[in-house]
Amino acid sequence: MQGNSSPVAAVVVLAAGAGTRMKSRKSKLLHEVAGHSMLSYAVAAANAVEPQHVMVVVGHQRDQVVSHLGEIAPNVETTVQAEQLGTGHAVQCALDALGELHGDVVVTYGDVPMLTGETLIELVQAHHARHDAITVLTSRVPNPQGYGRIVRDDDGHVLAIVEDKDTTAPQAQIDEINSGMYVFDAAVLRDGLSRLSTDNAQGELYLTDVLGNARSDGLRVGAYEIADWQQAEGVNDRVQLARMNKEMNRRIVEKWMRAGVSVTDPDSTWIHASVSLSPDVVLQPNVYLEGATSIGEGAKIGPDVTLTDVEVGPGASIVRAQAILAVIGADASVGPYSYLRPGTTLGVGGKIGGFVETKNAKIADGAKVPHLTYAGDAEIGERANIGAGTIFANYDGVAKNTTRIGKDSFVGSNSVLVAPVEVADGAYVAAGSTLTDPVGPGEIAIARGRQANVPGWVAKRRAGTRTAQSAEEALQRDGKAAE
Ligand code: UD1
Ligand code: CA
Repeated sequence: MQGNSSPVAAVVVLAAGAGTRMKSRKSKLLHEVAGHSMLSYAVAAANAVEPQHVMVVVGHQRDQVVSHLGEIAPNVETTVQAEQLGTGHAVQCALDALGELHGDVVVTYGDVPMLTGETLIELVQAHHARHDAITVLTSRVPNPQGYGRIVRDDDGHVLAIVEDKDTTAPQAQIDEINSGMYVFDAAVLRDGLSRLSTDNAQGELYLTDVLGNARSDGLRVGAYEIADWQQAEGVNDRVQLARMNKEMNRRIVEKWMRAGVSVTDPDSTWIHASVSLSPDVVLQPNVYLEGATSIGEGAKIGPDVTLTDVEVGPGASIVRAQAILAVIGADASVGPYSYLRPGTTLGVGGKIGGFVETKNAKIADGAKVPHLTYAGDAEIGERANIGAGTIFANYDGVAKNTTRIGKDSFVGSNSVLVAPVEVADGAYVAAGSTLTDPVGPGEIAIARGRQANVPGWVAKRRAGTRTAQSAEEALQRDGKAAE
């Protein structure tokens, strides 16, 4: 962007407020929009201007906030504002912690998830293009109530920002609002903060007064207005949080449709900000794509699918399924009604069919687990077929063990494979077997009681019943009447 001649010295993210209206044990800033904490969006936008420092001002629930930042953004610094004496005081705390600064200081909030890095970059660029001492990000909103109003002079420069509670009746009509985001020349900011007072309706040190005072000193104060007012919207309660999630999702879904993804019902399709999709992916209704999920070209997902941290290959199809930390190969198919737990990998052209649960199961290319199976701690070779109702009994009450099925092998229906056990390449397991010993190549294992029939049992033990009568009739037809 602006190069090394005028780098952004610091982005200050205000995040000390109590978030009372969330009524939550969890810090407001850790509540999520499209799968990521509100704070993570603020940090991402801050990082986009490539500042020397990102300084987050923490206060309420700061242990949570600081430890979350340690996970998502180890580059950021934090400072404590022990008492929330106003936005001016919060920025003062940040400057005290930062020490000497030259260049721009950007101020933003931790609870405005829709704000993009591009907008902050544009704000900084406008600030330099116009040679302002301070530039404030503004927008016109449908309902300006609660926001600071931008009072401009006839040339369009900013005269002052008047807080909602301090407005006169005509000022209250102004629909251009202060987003709370600014670029300050560091020296102007430092000087302005030292002169703030609490002489206002809320008895706080208002950061906004720095702008009016600078203007009175004859400095240039500009406004950079954005049309997309929702970028400036903060979240104060869970009603706004839900609305924000919906709007963020709408934007994400629209972005993917414009990139070549077909979405049957955008309203019931929820995609986290971190998901990546490919052209000609088709998303049917009620699809949730979460975390680091990625989907290859032409794959068909849905209806009714939730994927969390799942990699789906091109051309795969998934119907009515839930999967987490799984890899689904190209042209493979999953569902309906299946549950893929962590460590499941399905090879190219493989199949996990209806009512199948898998966990830590490596299913090779072309292998099929079509019906009603539990495959836990399984290694299933290429093109092997697992019959309906097979159970990989992986847990002996103490430890988990692995079952290996070789390539091109066939496990008959309703078998129990008691781990650890191994079926070699090219082997069969007869239906209904309970397998405890290994099966060699080319062998069939039959591990079940032999069938024994007792002729005449019904006539003897169930005489006089309908069953006995039907048996008698059948035997007579066959010329074998009971003796
Ligand atoms: C502030 C602006 C207002 C603007 C609005 C946009 C001031 C005086 N007013 O008002 O012009 O339209 O934001 O949303 O700046 N915070 C701290 N420490 C404090 C006070 C606040 O960290 O001592 C943080 C809060 O956690 C919050 C942000 O600063 O993230 C804004 O504070 P808030 O009290 O909500 O300011 P508003 O009254 O909404
Ligand atoms: Ca606010």
